[in-house]
Amino acid sequence: MSVKLGKLIYTGKAKDVYETDNPQQVIVKFRDDITAGDGAKKDNLQLKGYYNSIISSKLFEVVEAAGVKTQYIELLEPGNMLSHKLDMIPLEVIVRNIAAGSLVRRFPFEEGQTFEQPLIQMDYKSDEYKDPMLNDDIAIALGIATAEELQEIREISIQINRALIDFLESKGIMLPDFKIEFGYDSEKNIVLGDEISPDTCRYWDMETKDVLDKDLFRKGESGVVDAYQKVASMILEEEDKEKWGID
Ligand code: TMP
Ligand code: ASP
Repeated sequence: MSVKLGKLIYTGKAKDVYETDNPQQVIVKFRDDITAGDGAKKDNLQLKGYYNSIISSKLFEVVEAAGVKTQYIELLEPGNMLSHKLDMIPLEVIVRNIAAGSLVRRFPFEEGQTFEQPLIQMDYKSDEYKDPMLNDDIAIALGIATAEELQEIREISIQINRALIDFLESKGIMLPDFKIEFGYDSEKNIVLGDEISPDTCRYWDMETKDVLDKDLFRKGESGVVDAYQKVASMILEEEDKEKWGID
């Protein structure tokens, strides 16, 4: 790896961010730690970070190709992603195509019901306040973003959703929902950051309907990393699979 890990500047529940020699660039390190329920359930699953970094890199490339600005520069090696430095916006933007998870626990939707238009939900990213759901007025009053920025985030999220659905369905994967995060780059553009991985998305095998994401861990089932490897195997080109030793 030619880029050196500098000072640790941020540590989250599953990733760390390090400085590099270039003040505009950071290295995002994907760890094997996995949590659920705001950290109530914890484990360390070998190779989880390896697969998540590879899957995220591929999906960042997919959304970049659709014209969305992302933090992604290059996967230096599995686990270490060279990225543009962003000033993160404390929002968890959740895009839902099919009802699942907290949506069916909190509202009278049927699990598996398909929405004609994707639902965009914005939660306040705050462990202290337990990521509560926001509306635009609350987000604006908290100073998280302006009305125009919220609208832009919504439009970019819909564009990302379209690009991900088209790509993943072509690989045999359904995308019921996912969570993304944005930040500002040095020119104040709104840029997609964080990750797009089985930790942050629901992926269902279109044929078998098998769950291929973190819901396995949330429900205490086994085979979490095997499912993540399966996602990598389904979405990568042969050349990348060979490069990273994935069959
Ligand atoms: P939910 O159904 O639990 O609200 O999750 C919706 C989507 O957001 C799902 O794909 C998982 C993802 N997600 C995260 O990435 N981080 C979180 O903290 C939560 C609660 C969900
Ligand atoms: N990301 C949250 C946690 O780490 C919750 C979840 O994904 O279920 O606890």
